Amino acid sequence: MKPYNLDHVAIAVHDLDAALDEYARLYGIVPLHREVVEEQGVEEAMLAVGGSFIQLLQPLAADTPVGQFLARKGEGLHHVALAVDDIEGALGHLRAEGARLIDEEPRIGGRGTRIAFVHPKQTTGTLIELVEPPED
Ligand code: CO
Repeated sequence: MKPYNLDHVAIAVHDLDAALDEYARLYGIVPLHREVVEEQGVEEAMLAVGGSFIQLLQPLAADTPVGQFLARKGEGLHHVALAVDDIEGALGHLRAEGARLIDEEPRIGGRGTRIAFVHPKQTTGTLIELVEPPED
Protein backbone atom coordinates (compact mmCIF):
# COMPACT_ATOMS: atom_id res chain seq x y z
CA MET A 1 0.00 0.00 0.00
CA LYS A 2 1.44 3.32 -1.05
CA PRO A 3 -0.63 6.49 -1.10
CA TYR A 4 0.08 8.52 -4.24
CA ASN A 5 -1.19 11.91 -3.10
CA LEU A 6 -2.19 13.94 -0.10
CA ASP A 7 -5.83 14.15 -1.13
CA HIS A 8 -6.95 16.62 1.52
CA VAL A 9 -6.63 17.92 5.01
CA ALA A 10 -10.00 18.35 6.68
CA ILE A 11 -10.82 21.14 9.09
CA ALA A 12 -13.93 21.13 11.25
CA VAL A 13 -15.74 24.47 11.37
CA HIS A 14 -18.85 25.81 13.07
CA ASP A 15 -19.92 28.02 10.16
CA LEU A 16 -19.02 26.93 6.63
CA ASP A 17 -20.07 30.21 4.98
CA ALA A 18 -17.95 32.23 7.39
CA ALA A 19 -14.97 29.90 6.92
CA LEU A 20 -15.27 30.09 3.11
CA ASP A 21 -15.40 33.89 3.25
CA GLU A 22 -12.27 33.88 5.35
CA TYR A 23 -10.34 31.52 3.05
CA ALA A 24 -11.34 33.65 0.06
CA ARG A 25 -10.42 36.94 1.74
CA LEU A 26 -7.15 35.84 3.35
CA TYR A 27 -5.81 33.27 0.88
CA GLY A 28 -7.77 33.90 -2.30
CA ILE A 29 -9.01 30.30 -2.37
CA VAL A 30 -12.58 29.65 -3.45
CA PRO A 31 -14.34 26.28 -3.25
CA LEU A 32 -14.35 24.01 -6.30
CA HIS A 33 -17.05 21.86 -4.86
CA ARG A 34 -19.59 21.96 -2.09
CA GLU A 35 -22.07 19.30 -1.04
CA VAL A 36 -24.07 17.84 1.81
CA VAL A 37 -22.91 14.30 2.60
CA GLU A 38 -25.80 12.97 4.67
CA GLU A 39 -24.06 9.68 5.36
CA GLN A 40 -21.29 11.52 7.21
CA GLY A 41 -23.52 14.16 8.74
CA VAL A 42 -21.63 17.06 7.18
CA GLU A 43 -21.76 19.79 4.62
CA GLU A 44 -18.34 19.95 3.03
CA ALA A 45 -16.49 22.33 0.74
CA MET A 46 -13.34 21.42 -1.18
CA LEU A 47 -10.75 24.14 -1.81
CA ALA A 48 -8.08 23.20 -4.33
CA VAL A 49 -4.46 24.00 -3.50
CA GLY A 50 -2.11 22.56 -6.11
CA GLY A 51 -2.95 18.88 -6.46
CA SER A 52 -4.56 18.65 -3.03
CA PHE A 53 -7.56 20.07 -1.23
CA ILE A 54 -8.47 21.72 1.99
CA GLN A 55 -11.79 20.22 3.05
CA LEU A 56 -13.93 22.35 5.34
CA LEU A 57 -16.52 20.38 7.29
CA GLN A 58 -19.56 21.78 9.01
CA PRO A 59 -21.67 19.26 10.95
CA LEU A 60 -25.34 18.92 10.05
CA ALA A 61 -26.21 18.35 13.73
CA ALA A 62 -24.56 18.29 17.15
CA ASP A 63 -24.90 14.50 17.49
CA THR A 64 -22.82 13.71 14.39
CA PRO A 65 -19.13 12.70 14.61
CA VAL A 66 -17.94 16.13 13.46
CA GLY A 67 -20.45 17.84 15.77
CA GLN A 68 -19.08 15.86 18.69
CA PHE A 69 -15.51 16.64 17.63
CA LEU A 70 -16.28 20.39 17.59
CA ALA A 71 -17.89 20.22 21.03
CA ARG A 72 -14.86 18.37 22.41
CA LYS A 73 -11.97 20.13 20.68
CA GLY A 74 -13.29 23.20 18.90
CA GLU A 75 -12.45 24.14 15.33
CA GLY A 76 -9.30 22.69 13.81
CA LEU A 77 -7.69 19.76 12.04
CA HIS A 78 -10.10 16.84 11.89
CA HIS A 79 -8.36 14.36 9.58
CA VAL A 80 -5.73 13.85 6.88
CA ALA A 81 -6.78 12.02 3.71
CA LEU A 82 -4.44 9.91 1.61
CA ALA A 83 -5.30 8.98 -1.96
CA VAL A 84 -4.94 5.30 -2.84
CA ASP A 85 -5.85 3.46 -6.02
CA ASP A 86 -6.96 0.22 -4.35
CA ILE A 87 -8.86 0.94 -1.16
CA GLU A 88 -9.75 -2.72 -0.48
CA GLY A 89 -6.08 -3.65 -0.84
CA ALA A 90 -5.06 -0.81 1.47
CA LEU A 91 -7.61 -1.89 4.10
CA GLY A 92 -6.40 -5.49 3.83
CA HIS A 93 -2.82 -4.36 4.39
CA LEU A 94 -3.78 -2.21 7.40
CA ARG A 95 -5.85 -5.05 8.88
CA ALA A 96 -2.91 -7.43 8.49
CA GLU A 97 -0.69 -4.87 10.26
CA GLY A 98 -3.11 -4.75 13.18
CA ALA A 99 -4.35 -1.23 12.52
CA ARG A 100 -7.66 -0.35 14.13
CA LEU A 101 -10.08 0.37 11.31
CA ILE A 102 -13.12 2.53 11.83
CA ASP A 103 -14.51 1.32 8.50
CA GLU A 104 -13.99 -2.35 7.72
CA GLU A 105 -15.44 -1.74 4.27
CA PRO A 106 -15.24 1.37 2.07
CA ARG A 107 -18.19 3.73 2.11
CA ILE A 108 -19.25 6.57 -0.15
CA GLY A 109 -17.67 9.98 0.34
CA GLY A 110 -18.07 13.28 -1.48
CA ARG A 111 -17.28 13.70 -5.21
CA GLY A 112 -18.18 10.06 -5.85
CA THR A 113 -15.16 8.81 -3.92
CA ARG A 114 -14.92 5.66 -1.83
CA ILE A 115 -13.46 6.29 1.61
CA ALA A 116 -12.52 4.54 4.84
CA PHE A 117 -11.26 5.88 8.16
CA VAL A 118 -8.42 4.52 10.30
CA HIS A 119 -8.49 5.15 14.03
CA PRO A 120 -6.17 7.94 15.26
CA LYS A 121 -4.65 5.70 17.90
CA GLN A 122 -2.07 4.09 15.60
CA THR A 123 -1.56 7.16 13.45
CA THR A 124 0.09 9.70 15.74
CA GLY A 125 -3.19 10.87 17.17
CA THR A 126 -4.51 11.87 13.76
CA LEU A 127 -7.57 10.43 12.11
CA ILE A 128 -6.56 9.12 8.67
CA GLU A 129 -8.96 8.78 5.76
CA LEU A 130 -8.18 6.65 2.73
CA VAL A 131 -9.71 7.99 -0.48
CA GLU A 132 -10.15 6.15 -3.74
CA PRO A 133 -11.26 8.64 -6.40
CA PRO A 134 -13.94 7.58 -8.89
CA GLU A 135 -12.76 6.18 -12.21
CA ASP A 136 -13.32 8.82 -14.83
CO1 CO B 1 -12.22 13.88 4.30
